[in-house]
Amino acid sequence: MDNGLPTTIVIFGASGDLTQRKLVPSLFNLYRKGRLPKQFRIVGYGNTAFTDEQFRAHLEEGMKQFAPFEYKDEEWQAFAANLAYQQGRYTDLADFKKLAAFLKDWEISSGNRIYYMATPPGVFPSIIDLLGLTDQLTEYNGWRRVVIEKPFGTDLASAHSLNQQIHKTLNEKQIYRIDHYLGKETVQNILVARFANTIFEPLWNRNYIDHVEITVAEKVGVEHRGRFYDSVGVLRDMFQNHLLQLLTLVAMEPPASFEANALRNEKVKVLSSIRPMKAEEVAQKTVRAQYAGYRQESGVNPESTTPTYAAVKLQIDNWRWQGVPFYLRSGKNLKEKLSQVTIQFKEPPHLLFPTKDGRITPNMLILYLQPDEGIHWRFEAKVPDTVSDLRSVDMEFHYADSFGKTAIPDAYERLLLDTLTGDASLFTRADEVETAWGLMDPILEAWESNSQPLAVYEPGSWGPAEADELLARDGRKWNTWDGRIE
Ligand code: BG6
Repeated sequence: MDNGLPTTIVIFGASGDLTQRKLVPSLFNLYRKGRLPKQFRIVGYGNTAFTDEQFRAHLEEGMKQFAPFEYKDEEWQAFAANLAYQQGRYTDLADFKKLAAFLKDWEISSGNRIYYMATPPGVFPSIIDLLGLTDQLTEYNGWRRVVIEKPFGTDLASAHSLNQQIHKTLNEKQIYRIDHYLGKETVQNILVARFANTIFEPLWNRNYIDHVEITVAEKVGVEHRGRFYDSVGVLRDMFQNHLLQLLTLVAMEPPASFEANALRNEKVKVLSSIRPMKAEEVAQKTVRAQYAGYRQESGVNPESTTPTYAAVKLQIDNWRWQGVPFYLRSGKNLKEKLSQVTIQFKEPPHLLFPTKDGRITPNMLILYLQPDEGIHWRFEAKVPDTVSDLRSVDMEFHYADSFGKTAIPDAYERLLLDTLTGDASLFTRADEVETAWGLMDPILEAWESNSQPLAVYEPGSWGPAEADELLARDGRKWNTWDGRIE
């Protein structure tokens, strides 16, 4: 809650892309909606030599290019008056002393502060150490919160040591680890669909569900991030965080309350119930692939074996999900940008109506996370003027129809607002991040020993044939239904 004190948001990495494309447009939109504290200031910090004026101009340029909403110039000018810039290094004590003095000067005697790490991950530890050394993290008069962008570590060991290191200077309560997927309205709506309705939950288990599919497909390739991406790959970039987070929301038990730790306890419980993959199972249960032409992308090693696509089959060992596989896939340079969760139900236990192959199309509930956000139910109906021909029909909810086209704010808006109000529900806790890494480690180790062939897929396709085979071995197929029924 707003304690009425002046609030400063310090952004490390302020000259970078994230600040210009996401953070400042989101903060500006919060300002337009009257949701920022009465007295606030945004201080950019970075290596680039900007004056305050140059910093504002750089952000204004970004606003014109990236803001997903209409705004008036006078609104921007009023907001921009609260923007300031401090040039400094991320490893230099003297620069951090200067920052501390600069911040204190504006606050006079008290104030809240958010420190946002929008830098490459290599400098997180040094920034936090230096903030600690210059006494910027003690909550004397006003709170101190630190937002940490992903990637949080590169495997379990590095995530654990990063946690240990930041816990030397910060309480877990002060740490907001970002996974921007949790800021998406449609992702939060998974919980609302499940726990604010009675119709879904009774069916939400192994008795009725055949399998769950989570797809996060991207149309873009690695763009200008070739060098970074090549050192990371799809499992670290998308699975350890976004896809596993989606899985936890689909699979978790109802939390005791809508409160950060109650929610996160349930998410950790799901992650801890996922059966860890044994080295000898990796080739059978995962597919790693690279798009043709990836090695020629700028910044990418011409002999790179970094995967840009993965498909993974996971099992959850608990009462609700025993025997229900969760198939996860994600990749770059695919046919379309599409994020969706498909809940495929079992076929009816008895076939009353004659069908050609003695089977019936199973029901599906599809949560469309982006684009065309919404929820679709697919069920069978009788074709008119036939005795008993069946056809699938679709019952659809589209956010745009129900709430208007511009109703969905950017994920960062939600996450920044929650940081300001101190609600950590949509941020990942230390044990959650580590448990997720623990699930990825065996796959990463097997893949990095190159014992499993690297499949290749055509840009603009839906991924490699090997991913279809992964499901075909279980007698299943990826959901290719796009809501348009022939
Ligand atoms: C980021 C990844 O976390 O998520 C990117 O680093 C990816 O590689 C992006 O493109 C996808 O996010 P969204 O919101 O566009 O689905």
